[in-house]
Amino acid sequence: MKRGDLMSEEIQKDEESIQPDDDMVEVVPSGNPKKQALESLPGVGASTAEKLQEAGYYDLMSLAVASPGELVESVGVSEPIARKIINAARNNLDMGFQSGDDLLKKRERVIKIPIGSDAFNTLMGGGFETGSITECFGEFGSGKTQLGHILCINVQKLDPTAVIVYIDTENTFRPERIKQLAEGAGLSTEQVLSNIRVGRAYNSDHQMLLAEKVEDLIQKQNLNVKLIVVDSLTAHFRAEFIGRGTLAERQQKLNKHMHTLLKLADSCNLCVYVTNQVMSKPDVFFGDPTQAIGGHIVGHASTFRIYLRKGKKGSRVAKLIDSPHLQEGECNFFVETGGLRDVK
Ligand code: GTP
Ligand code: MG
Repeated sequence: MKRGDLMSEEIQKDEESIQPDDDMVEVVPSGNPKKQALESLPGVGASTAEKLQEAGYYDLMSLAVASPGELVESVGVSEPIARKIINAARNNLDMGFQSGDDLLKKRERVIKIPIGSDAFNTLMGGGFETGSITECFGEFGSGKTQLGHILCINVQKLDPTAVIVYIDTENTFRPERIKQLAEGAGLSTEQVLSNIRVGRAYNSDHQMLLAEKVEDLIQKQNLNVKLIVVDSLTAHFRAEFIGRGTLAERQQKLNKHMHTLLKLADSCNLCVYVTNQVMSKPDVFFGDPTQAIGGHIVGHASTFRIYLRKGKKGSRVAKLIDSPHLQEGECNFFVETGGLRDVK
């Protein structure tokens, strides 16, 4: 589609008049300061502001970090206007460096969601952090999906109003399992289940769209989303992009998806938990012949990486292999009906 086709009359009008529309004050609802901030940008009138918000650009920060190409595609403005909007958003924001003590204050907002086994909590420095992506990879049956279910309960133990978005790509979310775990934790099953929003993703595009829609739940429906589970992060991508020729496109899409999740984690101080499969490396003779799917893209976007495997006597072993401030290490635990249990 040509850019001109996308451009509505209203947007053209916005582009012609660099100042916001005269009738802007009447259109703007007084309770929407973020929209007002958008409309204060040159070239953005009420209708463009609305289109920006519909496309997920709710505030100046989301515009400041956008690329002109994204705006052209999603809002239908011309490229010079997109650049002007982005530059103005950048100028209006203090995009400078943050001081170490500001960052420390931001770190103080981080919530750690315990996972239920003392050893595992210690390994993770208290629990799974908000503001970050934690990736768990491992073979089938290693317990990745179970951890996702357990986090849904534990985040609600900390904050009964916490909402969970569960993006289920393999149809493995089980409300029955949530019920068992909620009972194990002494929580009301109805309450716990009603705070979980499950999105069943049928393909990788659908999965990406669901992640993009989380911002709507937070901004439009005012939901206190504290945890996003993506189980599995890579299964659709792996199934849809087969062969070497498609690798670049797959990685590009995965990168975009991870970026959406990272932005949500950071800007909304929520925990993102993603699961990832492993593939075997037939050329490895020493050490573990498995490797996480998604390569560097997934590895680098994840703040914490955990390798899960089956241990002795039905136990599970979690190995923390990447973390910005925690030591690498391992722990053992059992997955039980009521939750995780330490190996004595
Ligand atoms: P894939 O999605 O196939 O890659 O595997 P996964 O890593 O997600 O494995 P999952 O979390 O589904 O773990 C399945 C294992 O968890 C089972 O083999 C059981 O050992 C254990 N498990 C699942 N539900 C229960 C339960 O209700 N009670 C107990 N004791 N164990 C359970
Ligand atoms: Mg699973």
